[in-house]
Amino acid sequence: MTLLTKVICFSIASLACLSSITQAVPLLDSHIVSLKSRTANWTNPITWDDYSLKIDNERVFFWGAEFHPFRLPSPDLWVDVLEKIKASGFNVVQSYFHWGFHSWNNQTVDLTGIRDMELFLQMAHEVGLYVSARPGPYINAETTAGGFALWSKKLKGTSRTSAPDWTAAWKPYITKMATLFNKYQYPKGPVIAVQIDNEYWTDKTAGKEYMALLEQVYADAGIYVPTFHNAPSNGQSPWSAGLGSTDLLGYDFYPIGWGDCPLNSSDWSQPYKPPYTEIVKYKQGVPLFIPELGGGAFDVWGGVGEDVCRRHTNNLYERLYDRWNLAMGLTMQSIYMTFGGTNWGNLRFPSDYTSYDYGAPIDESRQIGSKLYEKKLLNYFLLVAKELAETHPFVGNVSDKSVRDDIRRNPQTGSEFHILRHEDKTSLADTGFSLLIGNITVPQESGTQIRLNGRDSKILSANLDFLNHHLIYATTDVLTWGTIDQTDFLVLHGLSGEDGEIVLEMPHGSSPKVQFFGSSNNGKASVSDSKLRLNYVVKGLIIIQITNIDNPLTILVADLDNAYQFWRLDTHNGPAFVFGSYLVRGLSSTSGSTLSIRGDTNTTSNIEVFASKQFKTIAWNGNNIKMSPTSYGSSKGKLQGPKSVSVPKLSSWTVGYEAPERLSSFDDDDWTIADHTTTNNPIPQPDGQPVLYADDYDFHVGHIWYRGHFNATGDEKQLNVTVQGGDHSVYSIWFNSQYLGTFNSKTSATPDLIKLPSTALISNGSNVISILVDGMGSDEEGGTDQFKAYRGLYDARLLTSSSKQSTSTITWKLQGNLGGENIVDTCRGTFNVGGKYGERKGWHLPGFPATSKNNFTNGVTLPHNFGPAGIAWYFTDFKLDFPKGTDNPVVVTFDKPDDKQLYRAEFYINGWNFGKVIPNLGPQFEFPVPPGILNTNGNNHLAIAVHGLNDKDNTFAPVQLKVLNSYSFGGSSWKQVKAPSFDEKVYGSSSSLAA
Ligand code: GAL
Repeated sequence: MTLLTKVICFSIASLACLSSITQAVPLLDSHIVSLKSRTANWTNPITWDDYSLKIDNERVFFWGAEFHPFRLPSPDLWVDVLEKIKASGFNVVQSYFHWGFHSWNNQTVDLTGIRDMELFLQMAHEVGLYVSARPGPYINAETTAGGFALWSKKLKGTSRTSAPDWTAAWKPYITKMATLFNKYQYPKGPVIAVQIDNEYWTDKTAGKEYMALLEQVYADAGIYVPTFHNAPSNGQSPWSAGLGSTDLLGYDFYPIGWGDCPLNSSDWSQPYKPPYTEIVKYKQGVPLFIPELGGGAFDVWGGVGEDVCRRHTNNLYERLYDRWNLAMGLTMQSIYMTFGGTNWGNLRFPSDYTSYDYGAPIDESRQIGSKLYEKKLLNYFLLVAKELAETHPFVGNVSDKSVRDDIRRNPQTGSEFHILRHEDKTSLADTGFSLLIGNITVPQESGTQIRLNGRDSKILSANLDFLNHHLIYATTDVLTWGTIDQTDFLVLHGLSGEDGEIVLEMPHGSSPKVQFFGSSNNGKASVSDSKLRLNYVVKGLIIIQITNIDNPLTILVADLDNAYQFWRLDTHNGPAFVFGSYLVRGLSSTSGSTLSIRGDTNTTSNIEVFASKQFKTIAWNGNNIKMSPTSYGSSKGKLQGPKSVSVPKLSSWTVGYEAPERLSSFDDDDWTIADHTTTNNPIPQPDGQPVLYADDYDFHVGHIWYRGHFNATGDEKQLNVTVQGGDHSVYSIWFNSQYLGTFNSKTSATPDLIKLPSTALISNGSNVISILVDGMGSDEEGGTDQFKAYRGLYDARLLTSSSKQSTSTITWKLQGNLGGENIVDTCRGTFNVGGKYGERKGWHLPGFPATSKNNFTNGVTLPHNFGPAGIAWYFTDFKLDFPKGTDNPVVVTFDKPDDKQLYRAEFYINGWNFGKVIPNLGPQFEFPVPPGILNTNGNNHLAIAVHGLNDKDNTFAPVQLKVLNSYSFGGSSWKQVKAPSFDEKVYGSSSSLAA
């Protein structure tokens, strides 16, 4: 693949990435302009009807995998994830784009570097996936402010209405995205659908006007592919008809919930009711569409961990719910998430921690396993079984009533798909039964049964034409088919040990010859009345050759282990079927007599290939493999496993201490004075107080410092203060340099009463209160304008000994990230750093001189007691040199300290903020860092900022690196993502303080 990577950041003094600046555009004169006709004299390549989407008039399943490029800030790796999605048979990648990620002030919509969404669309196109684009403006997605630009928290206009200031805010962003989507719209590019906003419900005209205004921007940009909306629940959607309605309508479906994965992964006690009937009821003439089918679950601070979610929503979950959806006639769905990625920087919303692994089929370190393999089985089938995209429902007849047979029958061809599952989705029973196909009781072979073991679900195909053959029925699931040279192949998959029966129509008067090879030693074949019946017990890989007929047929029956390691390639000499490797990505050449496979291995493995005889040799990642022919026409060989690699032990650290803001001597002359007297925030400031909200002063991300100055009368006894940093936020407070403690920030306006020690009070003199707020991100839109919930201080008053308000007033100053909305590091973007002193002074960046000359201490080992409450930084450097052609997911691991340690730490690899650990909440202690951020062949700089909450002794526990696994890698290699190093001209000079 030749991809022109467009990461154009400079690691030089200017700190600038090339960014494109968009001026705010004026509002439409009239709010609502009717949509331009999209159809005059022209045929839209994307159409639809009750059954399915059609592309160029061909029925297709819209079979999507959700992936958010903003959660993987290493653009070269986007190809890796896209290839894994494509290789497992999805045909659509569905992506949210994040307004706030691209826009850090009202003059900027940046699509460069890690935000280069044009590159993303190009990659998807080259990999061969369609794109379903979901640019918001609202996306929810467990991200800060649900994806709204953080500066829009300052607007007066209500979010998601036609308020002029709100419209002017989103318009430059949506216009730019719409222009990009137009450039890459099918057939010029991969974009086949655009979602308008996200899970928005309103009955207000202003809300409907908002949707219509968004649609108008797309129409004006020439977008003709369908627009759609995803309803959050199965009630009536406001977008089925009338103002703001979309072309297609979908309902999101999370069958077993989110964020509450039980430790007992077999507990499926309360599957939610699916929305099928309502979709059918509320909009006619559109296919059944689930834009988000839960592909896992997100987890929250203090939760069980993403691996538990992956076990809970395991391969059987995938198997059951995908098939159930098909049973209801669904032809459009996307799996949320298929690759979740990382809430790096301050991307997360307050409840969520750094990992957005989601228990998804592709894990946060881009590793795949049984969940993706299970998806692949069905995805492959849907790529060939086009007849399933146009069906009507019937109910089948099963001998055991605990089993349900939903038949989907194609009205044109009469082909049938019997979709079997236990009526009770939670059932773990192993049930044997027979059922009616036409008027035949199946299976016909005496003493055999069809089986459904627990949450298994099957699709039995019947009366189906494939290639040159007619399948009367099969009791084993069809996987795919294709013709290699002159032989037709039908591939099936089943569970090991289960009976299988296939009946095929044979040419009249023929005497087919049937031979069994492979793992079967008990296969049976019989012909009667031009019908060939085959019986077998599924095990390993069974090869059944049927010859002596005009079109010879080979049937491959794979058990689950073999099917999971099965890959289909479409070559210039027809399809090729590969059994036996961790991942087959595709071909490295589409000409010549070598079958050039690109793929990954996780161990030394045997492969077996069924391919055209035109291929004289088989190569794997460019190296020819020694293959031996089998008696039934395939060839077998061995793939090398990966070389295992190691990572250095992190043993020596440099330590420095900051938080000078806590000291009364600190010079805050250049800080912003909180002097606004009014706010647009829906919650006005309390009487007699200036506006203290950090957002109103352009500080939206991470830690915020406040310093309050007052001249004391001598009777100031308490501070009555309300601080809000989002769920799980804390704030630390000092009075005239004396630590008063750390408190949980409040989500409602309930003040803390904090005692001011009289020994620290300077009567008739100047006093300073310092407050450090650990901002956990902005809220999502639970209700209207909820994302505007303030961060920082709300109210802060001094109380006297008689608990009355003191006559002394406090003048507050505040400080957040360097530059506020005019961020200085536009490569790493707006979420990377907040307002810690070290972040403002560039301590997180490679090249920052943490030397003994600046008072930093070298040669420290962990655990290490850094002393009093405040912020200590730990630095170390390490080298990696991983062999070429390997992928070795690395995690940074934090030891859990003892329960007395209440610190919170954020770490930066090569300047990138890649995780936050809160030991007393957990559950995350291991943090994946993707290659490109991690330098896998060179130096790495690790900086960790630790906010200690204990009064005196804060002991930071050990940190190490760990390699999760090693893979030989057939994907495109990656480059280090360019971003600036420390520059004194930007960050100034600074020294570590005495703790
Ligand atoms: C959906 C929403 C997504 C995401 C998901 C839960 O309702 O549309 O953005 O938040 O829930 O992960």
